[in-house]
Amino acid sequence: MSLLLNRSVFGDTSNAGNTLTREEAYALLTDWVKNERLQLHMKQVAHLMKCWAAEKEGLDEADQWRWEMAGLLHDADWDQWPELHCKKIIEELEARHIDPEIIRAIASHGPNHFGVIPETKMDKMLYAFDELSGLTHAYSLMRPEGYAGMEVKGLKKRFKDKAFAAAVNRDEILEAVLMAGVDLETIMQFIIEKQGEVSGH
Ligand SMILES: [Fe+2]
Ligand SMILES: [Fe+2]
Repeated sequence: MSLLLNRSVFGDTSNAGNTLTREEAYALLTDWVKNERLQLHMKQVAHLMKCWAAEKEGLDEADQWRWEMAGLLHDADWDQWPELHCKKIIEELEARHIDPEIIRAIASHGPNHFGVIPETKMDKMLYAFDELSGLTHAYSLMRPEGYAGMEVKGLKKRFKDKAFAAAVNRDEILEAVLMAGVDLETIMQFIIEKQGEVSGH
């Protein structure tokens, strides 16, 4: 099954700055995604994107929401239409005249699957957070204290242990982190600090 998008232009520049409202984005999320674990993953990545935009990029609230929205909806079609991931959500957001940068970030969150290389900082951070967020969450689930007291050292150990969360592609994470120009420890520390703030409900 190929998920290659075979295109490189997404959305329309005349829609720059257009977003869904928070209510519309959450309505789409709960309408399309029934799997609660996947919903949580999307909320976690959204929170990481928002916090990174605010704290590391110094972006204003409107831009923070653009980053957050890309994170929130990046896997929106995975639950019900895995063979159309992420074609379906791209087409939905294009039909709703959403900012091309948000659509592009979603389109490039898996370059080895969709064939779209991350270019902007938003693209690159979404790619860098996606799989590493999942690995960090898997680690939190095996710790009695969850995220509390979690250290980069422990997370790195799980990262190196290929048998742990074996579905998480370590090479992709290393590629993504390299592209983002941020070192692995910095991103790990950031995820540990922020991800525990997101609850499943
Ligand atoms: Fe995905
Ligand atoms: Fe994801």
